[in-house]
Amino acid sequence: MFLQRGLVWLQDQLTTTARNFLLNVLAAGPIPKHVAFVMDGNRRYARMKHQAIQQGHSEGFVALRRMLEICLRLNIKCVSAYAFAIENFKRSEEEVAALMKLAEEKLVELCEHGDLLDEYGVRLNVVGHTNMLPESVQAAVRKAEDTTRHNKRAIFNLCMPYASRDEIATAIKSSVEVSLTQDYEISYITEKDIDSQLPIALGGSPPLDILIRTSGVKRLSDFMLWHCSENTQLQFSSTYWPDFGLFDFIPVILDYQRKSIMKGSSI
Ligand code: FPP
Ligand code: MG
Repeated sequence: MFLQRGLVWLQDQLTTTARNFLLNVLAAGPIPKHVAFVMDGNRRYARMKHQAIQQGHSEGFVALRRMLEICLRLNIKCVSAYAFAIENFKRSEEEVAALMKLAEEKLVELCEHGDLLDEYGVRLNVVGHTNMLPESVQAAVRKAEDTTRHNKRAIFNLCMPYASRDEIATAIKSSVEVSLTQDYEISYITEKDIDSQLPIALGGSPPLDILIRTSGVKRLSDFMLWHCSENTQLQFSSTYWPDFGLFDFIPVILDYQRKSIMKGSSI
């Protein structure tokens, strides 16, 4: 029994050492500034494991924390994640309630003293129509954002309840309002003006370098449409989100590094 425990411990240590080594090697190459995740496949994962749907979402949160830490270890300055689409309010009452409970619990936990966001100096922005969330979740959002407000090393955009076309429409309205209050013609509004009104840009996030969607689905589903229209590397992985980890991420980063090195050498 003692020997068995010792071997498990040794195996974990080796894995941790190998993992740290891989992360250090990857971090020595070009690193994207901003990576976004469409965390898809939680329910299929749960069904595959004969679990309740909410268990799939809980394990989805574990994967989010794991990927966030990997990104921070690689010195990626900004991570965005699609946690809840406005459209998701159409799911069953039970599933929506479970997701809201998870958000309420985990938001506060993530930001606690000594936890991930504090350890890595990450500012949390919750992006979307937060007024559509239950009051207790809104209170957790305010608390989590306030706790991390002064963190400067990285940004984590948690998008909930979010829809990109709605975000763009709101930014256009704000640009028009600015033009009216500053008394210049609406026809002078530029792409840059609209860009500067998007909450993700307002929060100081750099342009999006990589967007990853899991679970084999190749759609954007109204996520960061404006942000991924230029030089963003789109990656579709067949892994269900709760299973997504370092070994799914390594080829994505290597691809980014290869393209960056090629771009650099063609200048
Ligand atoms: C998509 O998979 C996932 C979601 C709608 C929820 C994502 C939420 C998490 C990963 C946890 C978020 C953490 C916080 C802090 C709220 P799906 O439900 O569409 O699964 P399917 O594609 O297999 O049906
Ligand atoms: Mg889905």
